[in-house]
Amino acid sequence: MALKPELKTSLPGPRAKELLKKDEDFISPSYTRSYPAVIEKGNGVWVYDVDGNRFLDMAAGIAVLTTGHCHPEVVKAVQEQAAKLIHMSGTDFYYPYQIELAEKLAEIAPGSKNKRVFFSNSGTEANEAALKLARYKTRRPIFVAFFGAFHGRTFGSMSISASKAIHRRHFSPLVPQVVHVPYPNPYRPFFGVAPEKLTDTLLDYIENYVFNTIAPPEDVAAFIFEPVQGEGGYVVPPQDFFPKLKNLAEKFEILLIDDEVQAGMGRTGRMFAIEHFDIIPDIVTLAKGIASGFPLGATIAKKSLMDWESGTHASTFGGNPVSCVAALKTIELLERGLVENARVVGGYLKEKLLELKEEFEFIGDVRGLGLMIGVEIVKDKTSKTPDAKLRNKIVDEAFYKGLLLLGAGPNTVRWCPALVVTKEELDVALEIFRDVLKKI
Ligand SMILES: Cc1ncc(COP(=O)(O)O)c(C=O)c1O
Repeated sequence: MALKPELKTSLPGPRAKELLKKDEDFISPSYTRSYPAVIEKGNGVWVYDVDGNRFLDMAAGIAVLTTGHCHPEVVKAVQEQAAKLIHMSGTDFYYPYQIELAEKLAEIAPGSKNKRVFFSNSGTEANEAALKLARYKTRRPIFVAFFGAFHGRTFGSMSISASKAIHRRHFSPLVPQVVHVPYPNPYRPFFGVAPEKLTDTLLDYIENYVFNTIAPPEDVAAFIFEPVQGEGGYVVPPQDFFPKLKNLAEKFEILLIDDEVQAGMGRTGRMFAIEHFDIIPDIVTLAKGIASGFPLGATIAKKSLMDWESGTHASTFGGNPVSCVAALKTIELLERGLVENARVVGGYLKEKLLELKEEFEFIGDVRGLGLMIGVEIVKDKTSKTPDAKLRNKIVDEAFYKGLLLLGAGPNTVRWCPALVVTKEELDVALEIFRDVLKKI
């Protein structure tokens, strides 16, 4: 019989309450926590809080734990590595694990193996490296990014992001020379454009309006995009969007930076989400799922592109030996079956969530690829008015029933479990979710 969440105390329990009080005293209040989950240990898709309550985790540490909590093979590889070499700094020294991982990433990332990798510690750093490389190489200043995008919180990444005003308010001035254009969202087409005309309308707008006025294409270094928007609400663009964007980019020798920080590493049922759209980007950025929870960012580009001179960019911790070994093991596990599992059980999850969409008037849309699925909550299907309050209530109520979910965008519930999740575990999660929706 499938395991179920087990709540032994009211939530938060007594130990959690003590820690929450201390957290309030000592931890920056800028984080975005909504419900009080104080987690002590985890195993697969199950986590246990400090009071011994068991939760079913459909959030995977914000789409990070590709192999689940504490996968035994990752733990073993990390323990062995920690006993051998913890840090050396790839900036000034060489070590095998970083080189091995770079070779593996060059092999599996879209396009020929003829690539190089810059290692950092997080998604935002991976994107900073991509932006710097694009400017350095093209000697062009402008980036074209998309509304709804989230690329990180350091100044460069924050400047190309456009998902929430709070990320920017009172932090200006940001990095200049960034132009935002709409992301083609089939459920919420910009300016009422018919969904089947989204791609052509958008590309016409970029080429004949943006390029002719504020961003001459000869000054544009790169387009930067998420193949499936993450923090913007798990939005999948139309199938023809990226191929046509690539044509436009090639016409003006503009680079394509593919931010796979959330959608990459098997989550969408392909190793890289852009593979669903059949184009080869110039630069790919990775973090989150790459090392099963160990901090690592990677920026991957063709060798001819990543040929900046010594001293131009570096990182003390980036490509840490323990993180590299965790990443090598993670990729091995992904190739041994987890990518395929994401495709298969992700398809099952989407099918079941689509059934719930038929049942509940306030589910406006269910969309996604593999195990990256969004459930958009609205006032009703006709008006499609976003219902952020109800979304937040659903996510919070699920917690009180032992199910960990997260929001994405203003009014979407995100499902991004570990890629080890089984259909049986998804059934348990879906049953709780339906129960929450019925009683809300
Ligand atoms: C698509 C995308 N890019 C970049 C980032 C930033 O990653 P990090 O928080 O590791 O800096 C995120 C984080 O959510 C993301 O979803």
